[in-house]
Amino acid sequence: MTASFISFEGIDGAGKSTHIARLHEHLLARNTDVCLTREPGGTPLGEAIRGWVLNQGMAIDSEVLLLLAARAEHVAQVIRPALAAGRTVLCDRFSDATLAYQGYGRGVDLARLRQLCGWAESGVRPSLTVLFDVPPEVSRDRLAGLKTPDRFESEQAAFFERVRQGYLALAAAEPERFVVLDATQPLDTVTAQLIAAVDTRLPG
Ligand SMILES: Nc1ncnc2c1ncn2[C@@H]1O[C@H](COP(=O)(O)OP(=O)(O)OP(=O)(O)O)[C@@H](O)[C@H]1O
Ligand SMILES: [Mg+2]
Repeated sequence: MTASFISFEGIDGAGKSTHIARLHEHLLARNTDVCLTREPGGTPLGEAIRGWVLNQGMAIDSEVLLLLAARAEHVAQVIRPALAAGRTVLCDRFSDATLAYQGYGRGVDLARLRQLCGWAESGVRPSLTVLFDVPPEVSRDRLAGLKTPDRFESEQAAFFERVRQGYLALAAAEPERFVVLDATQPLDTVTAQLIAAVDTRLPG
């Protein structure tokens, strides 16, 4: 498989981490050189920023700018070099998360966010984005008892419904980049659909 950048999106508890791990296994079995990473995070600076943004109250503009600083670092230090080396990058959240959470969820102007995301990305865009679509009630039940909720996971259902609808709008606007999976289906069904989508959409 040639170098590809695949991002994974969906509200908290939709199944991103579970399915990234399963796809990783599948790609390794095909001898694909995989770089597994996540946002916010993926670098020492990004992981420090993740700790602040997920756990500490702050102004929305601070939240946006910290997330974008983490992304700029991630692109420069991890994603761009991995793609240049011919590796396949699997990234747990990327710019669509900023548009969905800070834009649709928190109400930050979308045009401004797109401009800032473009700056942080500096030309590095996913060739494929997998959206795990699930109603907030379902994901909330899945996460219940698993871990202490962070700042985002503590939000109300209405917030997650706005984020979910935002993701669906982003996917509808770019159908050639997005694959939307119904993540309420059983795990193995979702995994099979994910692998089929990746195998058909990507070269190699
Ligand atoms: N299709 C599914 N059916 C049943 N359970 C699922 C399904 N997908 C994920 N789960 C379960 O839901 C929980 C949350 O999944 P996971 O951690 O992969 O979500 P996530 O999208 O990475 O969440 P977060 O955004 O909080 O990191 C896990 O216990 C996982 O096993
Ligand atoms: Mg996860």
